[in-house]
Formats: sequence, C-alpha cells, structure tokens
Amino acid sequence: TILILDFGSQYSHLITRRCREHNVYAELLPCTTQLKDINFKPKGIILSGSPYSVYDKDSPHADPAIYELGVPVLGICYGLQEMAWQMKGTVEQCDHREYGFANIKIAKVGGPNPAVDALFEGLGDEMQVWMSHGDQLSAPPPDFHVIGHTPTAPYAALAHASKPFYGIQFHPEVTHSPRGKEVIGRFVLGICGCRKHWTMEEFIGKEIARIRAICGSTGRVIGAVSGGVDSTVAAKLMHEAIGDRFHAIMVDNGVLRLNEGKQVHEMLNNDLGVNLTVVDASDLFLSRLDGIDDPEQKRKIIGNTFINVFEAEAAKIEAAAAEEAQNGDAQGEKKKGRVEWLLQGTLYPDVIESISFKGPSATIKTHHNVGGLLKDMKLKLIEPLRELFKDEVRALGRLLNIPAPLVQRHPFPGPGLAIRILGPVTREQVRILQQADAIYIEEIRRAGLYDQIAQAFAVLLPVRAVGVMGDKRTYEQVIALRAVQSEDFMTADWYVFPPEVLRRISSRITNEVAGVNRVTYDISSKPPATVEWL
Ligand code: XMP
Repeated sequence: TILILDFGSQYSHLITRRCREHNVYAELLPCTTQLKDINFKPKGIILSGSPYSVYDKDSPHADPAIYELGVPVLGICYGLQEMAWQMKGTVEQCDHREYGFANIKIAKVGGPNPAVDALFEGLGDEMQVWMSHGDQLSAPPPDFHVIGHTPTAPYAALAHASKPFYGIQFHPEVTHSPRGKEVIGRFVLGICGCRKHWTMEEFIGKEIARIRAICGSTGRVIGAVSGGVDSTVAAKLMHEAIGDRFHAIMVDNGVLRLNEGKQVHEMLNNDLGVNLTVVDASDLFLSRLDGIDDPEQKRKIIGNTFINVFEAEAAKIEAAAAEEAQNGDAQGEKKKGRVEWLLQGTLYPDVIESISFKGPSATIKTHHNVGGLLKDMKLKLIEPLRELFKDEVRALGRLLNIPAPLVQRHPFPGPGLAIRILGPVTREQVRILQQADAIYIEEIRRAGLYDQIAQAFAVLLPVRAVGVMGDKRTYEQVIALRAVQSEDFMTADWYVFPPEVLRRISSRITNEVAGVNRVTYDISSKPPATVEWL
C-alpha cells in the first residue's frame, strides 16, 4: 500500500488513481493522520499539493514520524515544500503565481548512491510538466540534491543524498504532465518496490471471501438496484458471495427510461441469477409529484418516497426471512438467518469526498444515502465497492460477466426523468420523454457513437411551438437533446455530432413521438451550464 497524505489539493485523488493504474493499491488519508493511528505499514508515502502556504499560521503539517519509518517519501508541490520546510529548507512566495506548462530539465547527479537519480530514470533530459503554485523553494534543505529545474524554479525537483526522500514542484498526477504517470511509476514500483497486486482479478476473490466472512454462513443482505453499473456490479458480487441470501430490490418510480424495469429484471434475475424483487410504485411516486415544478422539491419527493417504498419492501423481506429463520423453509430446513445487512454501492470518490482534508475549520461529512433506513431497521452497512474508482467497477463488471452494454452505460440520475421533464411531471409527459429518449439513444448506438459520449439524454421543454403537418397548423412540445463529453462530470463539453445523425434523430422523434413537432440540440458546456437542465 502507498499512503497518500491529502493536504487539500484538488488533484489529490488523481495521485491515488495513478498509483492504481500501476496496479499498486494506494489509500488517501487526511494530512493530519498520525502514523500511530493507521493499521497498515505503507511501502511508501506521497504528500499531496495544497492550497495552503507552509508558513501560514493554520497550515497543515505532516506527522514528522513519516521520515523515521524507513520508507520512501515523495512530496508533490506543497508536499515538496512541506518536506523542505520540515527539514530546514526555505520556502518563499513566488513573484508571480506559476500556473501552466513548464519544461523541466533533468539533472543527473551521479555519485555513489544511484537512488538519487531513480525518480526520473529513463525519462531523458527534459520533459513537459504542469505547474500550479504560488510558493517555491528558495533554498533546499541540507543533504538534498537538485535533480530538476525550470527557468523559473531552480529547485523544481530534489532528492536526498542518502535517504529515499524526493520532492517535485510540478504535478505528475495531472494529464497535462504527459510523463507524470511514469514518474509516479518510478516512485511506487522502482523506489518503493511495490508489486503489481492491485488487479480486479485479485480483488474479486478477496472481496468475496471478505463478504462471506462478514455475513457468516446464514446472514442475509438486502440492497437496492437501479440497473446502473454500480448497483449491478455490487449485486452480482453479493450474489457470487452468498447466493440467494442476498435480496435485491428495484423500485420502479414511474420516471425510469422506456422498459427499464423490465430490462433490469431480465438482466439481473434471468441472466445474472440475482434474487430480485421489482416493486412497481409508479402510482405513488407520480401522485406525490403531481403539480410539482421545482426541481429540488422533485428530488426531495423522489428521495423520500424511495426510502418509504424500499423500507416497506425490505420489512416484508425481513419478516419472511425472520419466519424462515425461526421455522425453516418449505422443507423445514433452517439454513438462513435474519436480514442484518444493507448493501450500498458507495464508490471510492464518495469515500474520498467524505474524508478528504478540507482545512482546519471544515467538519468531516458523513455519507449515508439511506441513513433513515439504518436507524429503523438496525441494519449494518456492507459496501463492497468502497475502495474502487468507476473504471475499476467497470473492469470488475466485465470480469463478473455483466453484459458489455451495461458496463459501459451512461450514468442516469436517481430522480430519473423527473428532472428532465421541465415543469410538472404527468404520465403523458413521461410517455413523450421516454419515447424520444429511447429513439435518441437507439440512434446513437446505431451510429456507433455511444462509447464516445459520456452522457446523452433527451429533455422535454415546457413550451409549445408552432409547426405544420400536411396543410394543418400544429401546436406541440419541444424536445432538447443533450450529449456531453466529460472526464468526471465536473466539467463537460457538448458533443459534436455528425449532422446526418442529428438529422435522423430529429426526423424520427418528430415522426414517431405523438405530441412533439420540434427538436433542438443543446450546445452549452459545463460551466456555465450543468449537464442536466434541472
Ligand atoms: P450536473 O447536472 O450537476 O450533473 O452537471 C453532473 C452529473 O450528475 C448527475 N446528476 C444527478 N445524479 N441525482 C443523481 O443521482 C441527482 O439529483 C443528479 N443531478 C445530476 C448528472 O446526470 C450528471 O451525470
């Protein structure tokens, strides 16, 4: 394991990603973590960047014990300054904040200790890197060699003469540093000597064993599934571990995509063998949404109604399970216990979000989507994906034989079509949007463009537009199409379709979807727009 101490940089999670891309397990913890409080011995430590200045009164500092542990330490940006500051170098404010590309000249030190040059070994004499800093070193600490410099940063990279301590002013974790991933590889694989154990093949075996150990030979688990990648992968993993002692519940909230309930049922239950109950609660959801215009209110209603429905269904399953645990099944055999656990598809970015360092005044956020449930039913959480990033979940899905179209599926928001119907939600509006959206996605798939797009969907606008059909005037609704490319949905660009694809989609929607006479394409990026319209 590589321990990454997070000093609050917006790029900290990317360091974790890059280590994992080298098949090395890395864990991000707040910079205030004391070594005595962690229950593993890292093979190396990376100090992240930070918005702070090491000299600020309230700036965060690393536990000095990290330098006594006998493992390599790499400081990145603030991490370099922190290491230098702790070892009596000097850090000063730059004349100008440096932000952007720079060329770093690599300086080979030579000499008796080859480890001094190990960080940039094989990377040539010069490389392009990304800088983002307001402070920099004005004097390195004693016993450090300069291993890289730029025209503005004479101490852009340092290595200790005899100990495995390294510091770099640039950000190797961002894609703007094209060889940054290799630098991280030199550190974790070469200098720390980590082996490439972090693979999804190994993860499956270990995680199934862990789930079995947690649940024992009789314990049961319930969990919600949506048909999305995360919940499907989590459900399949649970099924592999404990078979039909895992009970999946899918709530049809009436604002799913066309035929989604049926498709999820077929895929999870028939194809993957997961023990699944589909609850059609569309009447309840739509009645509670009746007349509601405000998107935040729609979200709240859908979230709360989901909890009500899920709880009621879970209680039924729990009651049946309790009876069986008491009296045995139809054959009178007692093989299964009570429902004790609730499955949640929490991913690592949510975990990072809740533990990452937000400065001295920030409180740490807790992260339970269905907190109410746990209190009432006294269920304990089981989160098999909490160490994984999204693309690791996809890789896991492929290994678990989940069909490829599902593994690559675009995200779909919990509140579903309700936040894509602008204005009040009615069955008729849902019907129009479902049909238009299905045509849109079908044509994207047919054109072979689905995997190039991060998210595509149709939106139903609350206006009527004039049109003409035959020699008659029409006055009907408008569909807006949205498609974006994005790495992480924090920013997004609108997708440039080949015109003939848009032409076909528009023509099919206006011809096939009763009530729509006009289609528009959304050419806004995020920011300033968001991905969803509401
Ligand atoms: P925005 O609209 O915030 O969307 O740019 C970024 C990503 O988040 C999804 N999204 C949601 N997902 N519940 C969800 O589960 C929501 O209320 C919600 N709102 C937005 C959106 O689809 C996109 O992938």
